[in-house]
Amino acid sequence: MNELLPKLSTVPEGIHSPSDYLPYAKERLPPEIWRYLEEGSANNVSLQANPHAFDSIHLIPRPLSDVRSGHTKITLFGQTLAHPVILAPLAYQQLYHPHGESASAMAASAQEGQSCVSSLASQTLEDIISAAGQPLWFQLYWQENRERTLKLLQRTIAAGYNAIIFTVDAPVKQATIQLPTTIQPINLDLPAPFPALLPQQSQVFNGWMAQAPRWEDLAWLRDQTSLPLLVKGILHSEDAEKVINLGCDGLVVSNHGGRVLDGTPASLACLPPIVSAISGRGKVLFDSGIRNGRDIYKAFALGADAVMVGRPYIWGLATAGALGVAHIIRLLRDELELTMALTGTASIQEITQEKIQISRNQN
Ligand code: FNR
Repeated sequence: MNELLPKLSTVPEGIHSPSDYLPYAKERLPPEIWRYLEEGSANNVSLQANPHAFDSIHLIPRPLSDVRSGHTKITLFGQTLAHPVILAPLAYQQLYHPHGESASAMAASAQEGQSCVSSLASQTLEDIISAAGQPLWFQLYWQENRERTLKLLQRTIAAGYNAIIFTVDAPVKQATIQLPTTIQPINLDLPAPFPALLPQQSQVFNGWMAQAPRWEDLAWLRDQTSLPLLVKGILHSEDAEKVINLGCDGLVVSNHGGRVLDGTPASLACLPPIVSAISGRGKVLFDSGIRNGRDIYKAFALGADAVMVGRPYIWGLATAGALGVAHIIRLLRDELELTMALTGTASIQEITQEKIQISRNQN
């Protein structure tokens, strides 16, 4: 960890909110890498819907409230975090900064928060957790079959990761997203050769989807670990119920930042029905479109138990390495604290639906 410190870049002047980092990150990254980060899928309808959905949720000031005991702490799976901002799993972070995932994880630890490392990390999962100096969460992608998936899971557990986020919403991609070819997923074995398809067979159904996980695989995965297991990429309340009924500890309401199926509702629009279907039987995390602390407050008001943030922390990483990520987390927390203060909210538990007004035109 210490060897990274002298190499930290500096934070630009005049930054007041995470989005102030955006122009710096854009300027520093090669255009094809910037596109890879920011792109959505197909016509980008879901990508654009995600942040806009927050505009139809309104905050009500509650002056004269006593919030002197205020704090942003939450407890998740036995761990107390100083704030509820979890770094979402984002692939190939050395595309943005040479210190990659280690820098992000270090920043999350320094800010007394949590970070989720992608299966597609560009550094070894052992190196990342050692840079973080604390247990992290691991995002698991299905590895074509149970044997290969179990091998990766066991390696993750041996390295000290303490929660598994199983992402299920991207078995095939509609996207035009092209991964820059300069980087490889270092933690994964080479994929098995793709089975040859007969001429009448479909690449999607008989190719990709033949290697994708199904509900029975989730039931199997649940039996392979006693660690908290959450399923990421759930937008339908029936699926949310199935996840919980299979014994998982929770789920992440997410449309993958608008990068997979274009035309989904904004992720935020799917949160209330899922919270109501689960009614406290598991943790409901939320991501996609969070850009400031007010958005975080709104997600909690709609019932989230914690939030994940994606692209904004990469703007910090690209601009100033670990320092930039830590600064983004701090800015989000500061904005959340200000929102709580102005709405008379002393704790995350007090952020309820009564604190907001929802416009009818919510998408
Ligand atoms: C992602 N996301 C993602 N999710 C996942 O489970 N595993 C992964 O490897 C990745 N990789 C990835 C790369 C890039 C460049 C992006 C933008 C996103 C999705 C991510 O975890 C999260 O769901 C979204 O980023 C949340 O949306 P916002 O906060 O970026 O709007």
